[in-house]
Amino acid sequence: MAPTEKYVLVAGGAGYIGSHTALELLLAGYKVVVVDNLCNSSEEAVRRVGELAGCDVPFYAIDLRDKEALDAVFAKYDIDAVLHFAGLKAVGESTKLPLEYYDSNVGGSIALLKTMAKHAVPKIVFSSSATVYGDVTRFENMIPIPEECPTGATSPYGHTKLIIEDILRDAATADSNLKVAILRYFNPIGAHPSGRIGEDPLGVPNNLLPYIAQVAIGRRARLQVFGDDYVGSPDGTPLRDYLHVVDLAKGHLAALAKLDSVASTVPGEGYMREWNLGSGKGSTVFQIIHAFEAATGKTIPYDIVGRRAGDVLNLTAKATRANKELNWAVTLSIEDACRDLWHWTTMNPYGYGKQPE
Ligand code: NAD
Ligand code: WQD
Repeated sequence: MAPTEKYVLVAGGAGYIGSHTALELLLAGYKVVVVDNLCNSSEEAVRRVGELAGCDVPFYAIDLRDKEALDAVFAKYDIDAVLHFAGLKAVGESTKLPLEYYDSNVGGSIALLKTMAKHAVPKIVFSSSATVYGDVTRFENMIPIPEECPTGATSPYGHTKLIIEDILRDAATADSNLKVAILRYFNPIGAHPSGRIGEDPLGVPNNLLPYIAQVAIGRRARLQVFGDDYVGSPDGTPLRDYLHVVDLAKGHLAALAKLDSVASTVPGEGYMREWNLGSGKGSTVFQIIHAFEAATGKTIPYDIVGRRAGDVLNLTAKATRANKELNWAVTLSIEDACRDLWHWTTMNPYGYGKQPE
C-alpha cells in the first residue's frame, strides 16, 4: 500500500513489535493511529515513536473487546488497513490462564474484525507465531519449517493463534472485499538502534534475550540455560530462528504492499495467505550467549538446568515464501540485534519505567 491520506490502525501498537512497526510505517510516510489496552506496555513507547518520527501519534488506551470505544476510533479515522498485534503472548502463563487468553486473543480479534467489516476496512495483517507448528520433529524433513507444515500448537496461547487464523480464513472466504496476511513470526529480538524503543517485559522475562540483557545490566544474577542435552543440536541446546525486530517490522510494510497488489483468485471470496517471517537460520542458546558477549564485551554467567516444559529442539523458518512473494528478507544480524538490545538496555535499564522493581 502506498502511503495515502488514509490511516493504518495499529492494534497493540504500544507493545514491543507494534511500536517498532508503527515507527517504520511513519518513517515510510503512512499515517498511524494506535490502540492498546496497555496490559503489557506503556504509553511512553507510543510517545517515543512519535518523537523518533517527528510527529504526534494518535493513541487510544482501549481494549479491543470494548466495541463502543473501538467503533469510535474507526468512526473518527479513515482507516485503510489494520495491523493486529494486540493479545496476550506468554506460553507458560497461557497454561495457567487459558480463559483469559481465549477471551483477550480470540474475543479481541472477533471484535476487531466485526468493527472492520462495519467500516468496510479491507486489509488486515495478523501477528501469528511459529508456535502454531508445535514440535516439528514429529515429521521427517520438516526443518526448516515451510508454511505447508501441518500445524499443531501445544499451548492455549498457540491454540488462540490457530483459532484466529481459522477465523480470518473464514472471514476472507465470506467477504470478497477482505484481504488477510498472516505473518508467523519466529523469534524477534533486539531493539531500535536509537535506543529509544525496545522490549520492556513485566517481571521476570520469559524470553532468552531480555533475560540475558537483565543479567548483563545487573538486574539478575545468572542466566539459566534450559537443557544442553538436545540430540540433534550442535552443542545440545535448542535451535531457534532469531531475527531483528526492525527487520520484522519492515516485513509488515512488505505484507501491506502485497495485499495492495493481489486480487482474490476465487470469485466471491477475499484473499488470505500465510508467510513465515524468519531468517532461515537456526542458532543455539550458547551461540546467542556468545554473540551477545562478543557484541557487548559483557560476560554472561549461566547455569545449565533442566529442560523447560514445552520447549522443542528446533524452530527454524523456511523463509523463501516471504523472500519471493513479499520481496522481504532479513538484513540485520544477531550481532546487530545484540548490540541494539544492549544500547536500549543501557539507556533504559528499567525499560520505560523509572523505579527499580
Ligand atoms: P507485547 O505484549 O509487547 O504487545 C502486545 C500488545 O497488545 C501490548 O501492548 C498489550 O498491552 C496489547 N494488548 C493485549 N491484549 C489487548 C487487548 N485485548 N486489547 C488491546 N490491546 C491489547 O507483545 P509483542 O512481543 O509485541 O507481540 C505482538 C504480537 O506478536 C502478539 O500478538 C504476539 O502474540 C505476537 N508474537 C510475538 C512474538 C514474540 O516473540 N514477541 C512471536 C510471535 C508472535
Ligand atoms: C529461546 C531459547 C529456551 C530463556 C517463545 C514462544 C513463541 C514465540 C517466541 C510468541 C529456548 C532458551 C530461554 C531462559 C533459556 N512467542 N532459554 N533460558 O521459547 O523459542 O519462543 O517466544 O509467539 O511462541 O514460545 O523463545 O526466548 O523463550 O527461548 O535457556 O531464561 O532460549 O529454552 O531454547 P521460544 P525463548
